[in-house]
Amino acid sequence: MKVSVSTISLQELDVDLLIVPVTVEAVADGLEALVAAFGASIERARVDIKGEAGDVLLIYPDAGTAKRLVLTGIGDRSAVTSEILRNAAAEGARSAAKVRAETVGISVPDLDSDGDEASQALVEGFILGGYRFDRYRTVEEEVVMAQRLVIQTTDQDKQVRRGADRGRIVAEAVCSARDLVNLSPDEKTPVLLSKAIEKSAKKHGYEVTVWNKALIEEEGMGGLLAVNRGSQDPPTFSVLEWHPEHARNSRPIILVGKGVVFDTGGLSLKPTKGSMDSMKSDMAGAAAVIGAMEAIAKLELPLYVIGLIPATDNRPGEKAYVPGDVIRMHSGKTVEVLNTDAEGRMILADALSYATSFYPELVIDLATLTGAAVIALGDIVAAVMTNEEKGAAERLSAMTAAGEASGDRVHPLPMFDEYNEQIKSTVADLKNVGGREAGSITAAKFLEHFVDYPWIHLDIAGPSFLEKSRGYRTVGGTGFGVRLLVRFLQDMAEKKR
Ligand code: BES
Ligand code: MN
Ligand code: ZN
Repeated sequence: MKVSVSTISLQELDVDLLIVPVTVEAVADGLEALVAAFGASIERARVDIKGEAGDVLLIYPDAGTAKRLVLTGIGDRSAVTSEILRNAAAEGARSAAKVRAETVGISVPDLDSDGDEASQALVEGFILGGYRFDRYRTVEEEVVMAQRLVIQTTDQDKQVRRGADRGRIVAEAVCSARDLVNLSPDEKTPVLLSKAIEKSAKKHGYEVTVWNKALIEEEGMGGLLAVNRGSQDPPTFSVLEWHPEHARNSRPIILVGKGVVFDTGGLSLKPTKGSMDSMKSDMAGAAAVIGAMEAIAKLELPLYVIGLIPATDNRPGEKAYVPGDVIRMHSGKTVEVLNTDAEGRMILADALSYATSFYPELVIDLATLTGAAVIALGDIVAAVMTNEEKGAAERLSAMTAAGEASGDRVHPLPMFDEYNEQIKSTVADLKNVGGREAGSITAAKFLEHFVDYPWIHLDIAGPSFLEKSRGYRTVGGTGFGVRLLVRFLQDMAEKKR
């Protein structure tokens, strides 16, 4: 989508549909500026809107150039957040689709916050709320997607422009991640996924190296190979890299994404309904890392960032790993497999252990790791955990702040040492399951055994995939993590100035 910024007056903006976010105060004051621009239609319509968040009203103006107006409520002026603006813009996007608007304007409301935050949120909300996944529909529905979005502003022209550009880049990266998650599993085998990464790298300007099964064997990634044993398709391990000359860090930040392209559970087979039926999303962590790399490269973020994506499916084929198998991992540690459905930690452990070779400044992994995270937090927020190296509290608060600002929210879980008791094995260094209690924490404690650097673990099992759309988060893959990572890294780059 083309996104531009204009300081032309509301009245003169020539679009099929103009979205106007309005506060409760603006409505109470009679929407005078809008009456002046669009005439008596506003006076007649304003009885039907209060300006509260969630309000939407379509108006056919009798003055001005815009063909249609949509007023979207954003609540009390002093309490407007970026999240409210995203959802208001998403409502506008839905109205635009209904009336088949090709050109759409959004006016930036006059708020106390910076113009770039508001315009970024509006662009994100519009693009994300208007997202559709139509790849497999054979009967063309008559949809007209908006082709051009104009952000209308009266001042702060430059800031608004910066925010709009960022919003477009980030939202498009989120849409890439959503597309990958929504893709049918047979179109994203590990090799096909790595091809998609190569294509993405070329298009967005970052580097990628893909290891095949022989290289994975050579490197001794026992966890990834064990999970892959029951599969027809070989695994891949992709190494993504963004290393700009102007990088402000010398040791890399590493992003690790769980790339289980389909999780049947293996021999510890999952039931279908409400469980296996959504497991094409078990590579949502990988999708988030790919999306984040796209945005980071497009934004030319001044940080050295590496992405690691171990990819395989988890199937109960003839040679599948079995409960009781003891696996020698990349790090040299041994793991007793007691449930083949706890496969995510097996492949992540190898990636995390390989990450040590880069002497990273920080490693962040994203994984649809446990059903327990969904039980604990639902689908509105991810769980965040960190190891107890120095700076743990700062890391957690920086990640939580990035979550609040970006809309990809996270909430911490504890990492007390006592939880290690649950993953002690009678025959190996560790076992891969810790029982029902504190399942998300014991999964993270397992991973911690493969880490010797500052590390943040994000269990995104809940918010990465929705059964029903909510606001600008559409049904299916949400692209959760892309905005979180970009925001976190932008804040980090800012601190290194
Ligand atoms: N991919 C699943 C976790 C998951 C569940 C993601 C629901 C999204 C929605 C993971 O591989 C898994 O199966 N975890 C098991 C671990 C258990 C066997 C210790 C789980 O959570 O049941
Ligand atoms: Mn599983
Ligand atoms: Zn899984």
